[in-house]
Amino acid sequence: MNILQIENLSKVYGKGETAVKALDNVSFSVKKGEFVVIIGPSGSGKSTLLHLLGGVDRPTSGKVFIDNTDLYNLNETQLAIFRRRQIGLIYQFYNLIPILTVEENITLPLLLDEHEVDKKQFNEIVEKLGLTHRLGHLPNQLSGGQQQRVSIGRALISNPAIMLADEPTGNLDSKNSEEIMELLKMFNKTFNQTLIVITHDERIALQADRVISIEDGRIAKDEVIRS
Ligand SMILES: Nc1ncnc2c1ncn2[C@@H]1O[C@H](COP(=O)(O)OP(=O)(O)OP(=O)(O)O)[C@@H](O)[C@H]1O
Ligand SMILES: [Mg+2]
Repeated sequence: MNILQIENLSKVYGKGETAVKALDNVSFSVKKGEFVVIIGPSGSGKSTLLHLLGGVDRPTSGKVFIDNTDLYNLNETQLAIFRRRQIGLIYQFYNLIPILTVEENITLPLLLDEHEVDKKQFNEIVEKLGLTHRLGHLPNQLSGGQQQRVSIGRALISNPAIMLADEPTGNLDSKNSEEIMELLKMFNKTFNQTLIVITHDERIALQADRVISIEDGRIAKDEVIRS
């Protein structure tokens, strides 16, 4: 089953002489439970692609379907709700809310949705992330690796259809990078959680099921590593 399908996706930033074609007619699909890595040189359009998959920015043309929902057919309110429930985003610099505790940061997507927190699920996630004894801490009281684990918890709490990570280990040392990747892979394998990761790190690319290379806004290569 395809959880993600993108069709002829293009993104042009700006107008006229300064226009930049960041993404040029990209199409591919991803199966439920797949772990896909996206690699490519700086400026090739990786983050642009991830933002379009995540409903963060609208494409110039083309379509994105997540779990059969046509993302850009939704109005702004519907898109915001869909994003909160179905898309888990993880960034290089964590993007946590500084005045909220670990527990509040993780459960924020549910609270915004006026959904009850499923305590059992919450406990399972924080235990797997090794955050059980940090729930009352603020982000600035945590190490970088711990902050990234909080952002993984926040991304997972609403059982999203896909998890999207833009260089999730880009700001971490090698030991923390390895731990974060092990956690993401564990959620991918144990819960069949679809995972798309942008990285510059060859070692991470080798751990994926599939590697898509982007060059100049286009797919240069799409290789299945393991199936
Ligand atoms: N908001 C924007 N306005 C104008 N141009 C942009 C904008 N965002 C990105 N671009 C341009 O689009 C192209 C693709 O950028 P993008 O951020 O997607 O690259 P990337 O592959 O993620 O690079 P990196 O590996 O450095 O993060 C670049 O030429 C960039 O300058
Ligand atoms: Mg980028």
